[in-house]
Amino acid sequence: MSKTAELIIDGKSYTLPVIEGSEGEVAVDISDLLEKAKVITLDLGYKNTGATKSAITFLDGDNGILRYRGYSIEDLAEKSNFLEVAYLLIFGELPTQPQYQKFQHDIKTHTLVHEDVKKILDGFPSTAHPMGVLASLFCSQTAFYPESLDPNRSAEGVYLSIVRSLAKMPTFAAWAYKNAVGHPVNYPDNSLAYCARFLKMMFALPAEQYEVDPVVADALDKLLILHADHEQNCSTSTVRIVGSSKASIYSSISAGINALWGPLHGGANQEVIVMLENIRKDGGDTEKWINKAKDKNSGFRLMGFGHRVYKNFDPRAKIIKKAADDVLNKLGVNDPVLEIAKKLEEAALKDPYFVERRLYPNVDFYSGIIYRALGLPTDLFTVMFAMGRMPGWIAQWKEMRENKEPIGRPRQIYTGEKLRPYIEMPKRG
Ligand code: MLT
Repeated sequence: MSKTAELIIDGKSYTLPVIEGSEGEVAVDISDLLEKAKVITLDLGYKNTGATKSAITFLDGDNGILRYRGYSIEDLAEKSNFLEVAYLLIFGELPTQPQYQKFQHDIKTHTLVHEDVKKILDGFPSTAHPMGVLASLFCSQTAFYPESLDPNRSAEGVYLSIVRSLAKMPTFAAWAYKNAVGHPVNYPDNSLAYCARFLKMMFALPAEQYEVDPVVADALDKLLILHADHEQNCSTSTVRIVGSSKASIYSSISAGINALWGPLHGGANQEVIVMLENIRKDGGDTEKWINKAKDKNSGFRLMGFGHRVYKNFDPRAKIIKKAADDVLNKLGVNDPVLEIAKKLEEAALKDPYFVERRLYPNVDFYSGIIYRALGLPTDLFTVMFAMGRMPGWIAQWKEMRENKEPIGRPRQIYTGEKLRPYIEMPKRG
């Protein structure tokens, strides 16, 4: 017997179907509520509203659970690598050896970008934020691959777009950085693995040899795994709704990059370091800033603490915290900003004010620390988040297209003026 819910409005009863997910999540299906009852629901920010049914990522905010296609984030971070996790998220299963080798080969085949991309890059001033450059370069792929404008052209065509997206993202990210620092861009070295190839494009200079530090490459690979997907977050919802209009994968993901840029979303990891730097410049008195964070009138908010979905802890933060300690120890990093971070972390984990409000260090707090320790410039932190989230955006866009989901078109409650006659200009005011 399928479950139902009863809604009573003005004394009239409406029966609505109740659906249950594979992990026991329950939803009231209101798909035909407007037609049945001539009412809609209102949920600012969609915090209580499911936009879709998805088989990609399971997230349990109360118990701090995050799984990609049923595999725990803890298992994947410890035993897998970013490209294998990308394959899992996009195609639904861990790849066999032959599947993985083909995927690696196909990606290596597409790491180069059209030489005309340099003309677009040259148009950006060095002061351009790398996220804006990245979104533009990524969207420009619709121009170089116009066949992608038909997102359903063929399975082979969609696969090619997927591989090109994953392959070229590190190249675009590194070139956006080189544009900011005024260095010549580097071409991808396909003899290297995914993260090592990116680091060499980022930091190699024509005047000297560059050797990738395996500690840095491994830490980066783990960070990308932890950022690979997070169900219907702001940027992923953006990718899905843009893709629902049958926009290409490149324009849908470019929209996701722009959504991720905001300081309330992917930009938070950059804001963490900005906050730590400000505390350092102010003398490093963490006690003073902790008290400011407790004072509602101060207008100061600790960046990198708490999460809108996880109620007790962010499972990714637990994994990154250990990776941060490992990287800082292995690289022998001694950075006053990171010392301030440790004091804030200690306070947040012990101080009743933060504990009661569940303001624990989140994934952005620790990722900002690691990216800084890895020598990445602060402006690149959100670009790294985008590089990590690429497989999730691709997987969710692909699922939405394969499920032939309708175009997203939310409704509203109108609160403006009622009907009124036009007034000629001389009679106004
Ligand atoms: C994410 O990973 O996208 C962020 O934690 C934000 C979110 O899930 O809402």
